[in-house]
Amino acid sequence: MMEKIVSLCKRRGFIFPGSEIYGGFAGTYDWGHLGVALKRNITDAWSKAMQDHRNMTFLDSSIFTSGKVWEASGHVSGFSDPLVVCNVCKEKSRADHLLESVGAVADEKLSDADINKIFDENRDKLKCPKCGSKDFGRVRATNLLATSNLGMFEDKDEQVYLRGETAQGIYINYKNVLDTGFVSIPFGIAQIGKAFRNEISPRQFLFRKREFEQMEMQYFCHPNEAMDAYEAWKNERMEYYRKLGINPDKLRFKPHENLVFYAKAACDIEYEFPFGWNELEGVHYRGDYDLSQHQKFSGVDMQYYDEDTKEKYIPHIVETSVGVDRTVLMVLADAYTEDTLGDSQRIVLKLPPKLAPMVCAVSPLLKNKPELVSKAQEVFEPLKKEFGRVVWDDNGNIGKRYRRQDEIGTPWCIVVDFDTLENNTVTVRDRDTGGQERVQISDLSQYIKERI
Ligand code: GAP
Repeated sequence: MMEKIVSLCKRRGFIFPGSEIYGGFAGTYDWGHLGVALKRNITDAWSKAMQDHRNMTFLDSSIFTSGKVWEASGHVSGFSDPLVVCNVCKEKSRADHLLESVGAVADEKLSDADINKIFDENRDKLKCPKCGSKDFGRVRATNLLATSNLGMFEDKDEQVYLRGETAQGIYINYKNVLDTGFVSIPFGIAQIGKAFRNEISPRQFLFRKREFEQMEMQYFCHPNEAMDAYEAWKNERMEYYRKLGINPDKLRFKPHENLVFYAKAACDIEYEFPFGWNELEGVHYRGDYDLSQHQKFSGVDMQYYDEDTKEKYIPHIVETSVGVDRTVLMVLADAYTEDTLGDSQRIVLKLPPKLAPMVCAVSPLLKNKPELVSKAQEVFEPLKKEFGRVVWDDNGNIGKRYRRQDEIGTPWCIVVDFDTLENNTVTVRDRDTGGQERVQISDLSQYIKERI
């Protein structure tokens, strides 16, 4: 199924392989017209859900930051994956993923010595995914931060990193946001932006990329209230996916088995992707670790002073973190359907109308009849102005147009025919059922609004 989704995305202009004319560039993809629209609908839905909280603020922090940020956060010393190289074909793999594939449990946070021990115990079962050889080197931790030479620094101490997560930009601006006087504890800072990771083996299309986008929210609260906030955010985020129209049977919580030392509680919201259950979003109760680290490294006091109780403390943080790309993949996988309509086979993306790149397509029944074309234009223009996501489609016969719109998930196809010239009604064809009804042109806007 993954190959079919990848192929549809390229064929219909959602997503193209990065640097394709130069043979591709692993872990990168470029977004086409429909991909941009789908992605925007997803980020809009997330922003709207965050905005619904009265104590939520938004931020857009830099991709380039002082290297000190990543030393304080622990990414320079500890943000790594266990790499193992095949001695025959030199393919690089993640040792924890190879071990998982043979049923051995290996946490990505294990020490080099421990993961090598588990790897050695399982060597006879492990095979290189590329050439099938069993001849591997030693496992070693490989840092995931992507570096850059911005400013031509020669000194290693001035190393710059592309951000590995958007969260750090939020932590280092927490005091700035607080000092604006618009918020008090508890409050959230939400941010959407690019993140970069030197993933050892980018894979599964949009699932694991080297350049991707995150939607992260950090909720700053009193230590005594943080656990309740964690539970509330966990449930709210699950409910959010259900309301978005994602199949609830394919969503579940998975508590983290091995918490990092500073975390008080953490879980993933998992989705059943075509390649199995996997992390979609992380919800983490991170204690005061992040602000304490930045206080230690920057020397800036990160404490919050509560005017009412006269209490001073470092707020605890609950984080919700999800990838835009991974959400797009989930939404596509959830919507991808092959079915039979009438007597023909079709591919259809049963996207929730709110997320569909185009809400409707407008067509004249015949493109060589000027009276139909000009009437269809009269229908198209105001809808385009109102909804934006409206496409003009007069290419090929009507059956072909329906198939094309089905493949990109357009919920309604509006066709102007000879009856329209008589009575100002059009046919509206429903993507999922193929059923058609006649609707007055003047009612079209309301018809669509009610159904989005
Ligand atoms: N601030 C916490 C954090 O970054 P994470 O589990 O490393 O935690 C959070 O990442 C989310 O970002 C993941 O649940 C996933 O949706 C997305 N993500 C992480 N790495 C990714 C990658 N290489 N490609 C695409 N999405 C990724």
